[in-house]
Amino acid sequence: MAAEWVGGFREDGFPAPVVPDPMPPRLASPVKDAGGMRRPRARAHRHLDNDGHKSHFPPMSSPFPAPLLERFRRTAAVAVVIIDDPERAEPLAQALLKGGIDLVELTLRTPGALESMRRIRRAFPAIGLGAGTILRPDQVAEVVDAGAEFGVAPGLNPSVVVAAQKAGLPFAPGICTPSEIERALELGCRLLKFFPAESLGGIRHLKVTTSPYNHLAVDYIPLGGITQQNAEGYLREPSVIALGGSWIAPREAIAAGDWDRVEANARAVAELVGTIRGDTLK
Ligand code: 3PG
Repeated sequence: MAAEWVGGFREDGFPAPVVPDPMPPRLASPVKDAGGMRRPRARAHRHLDNDGHKSHFPPMSSPFPAPLLERFRRTAAVAVVIIDDPERAEPLAQALLKGGIDLVELTLRTPGALESMRRIRRAFPAIGLGAGTILRPDQVAEVVDAGAEFGVAPGLNPSVVVAAQKAGLPFAPGICTPSEIERALELGCRLLKFFPAESLGGIRHLKVTTSPYNHLAVDYIPLGGITQQNAEGYLREPSVIALGGSWIAPREAIAAGDWDRVEANARAVAELVGTIRGDTLK
């Protein structure tokens, strides 16, 4: 049966065989993001930022709201969590908050993920709660319903990006190559998950891969193999708005209810963020 086309993409996520639109003409004056919002990043340390060049690409669609971007910049560490038992959700969130981490990517890898999301949203409305591992467009509505403020995926699936845009869910697709970065820009994404960061060469790979796009003010969240030991290099990179990883709240620690360990890991990375970025956050 012929696949249906939805928003320029087939239902199964593959793009329709159409000639892509030409790049929009470059505007004379700097553009603002959708919603008329100037990007709020206090990027005194970033030299190549140039809003004028952003007009080559569509404005950011479903932009991350300013308070959430500010939280990424301040907390600078996202706890990626896999929760097998939703009963663990609230104490896990509490341990992370006690340690100083208020950003969570709750992955859709377990049957209890959505229930866990609902519980955290109910008990800790102030936490920055994101849904991770969004692999299908239909999952977007589910995570919005469960209270996710933003979405993340390991890869760049255009049909998921389009679904997130339609639902108004700020979404950071996963990328790790220049072609993927350009595709993400073309789709209106400006905050990207750099995955898998460590196995591809770590901070050196991130710098080399992303340097051609520095003038476009793209922000990255590197993930994959990051630990307390290698976090510093990422935190020193201006294009890294925040890093993330499962080492802060390992799956087995969550399963065992080892909240002291989670809190200690959270505190350690929060302190490292303060040491490395404290002066830029004042
Ligand atoms: C993931 O999606 O699994 C995250 O990127 C976390 O990776 P990590 O387990 O290597 O920290």
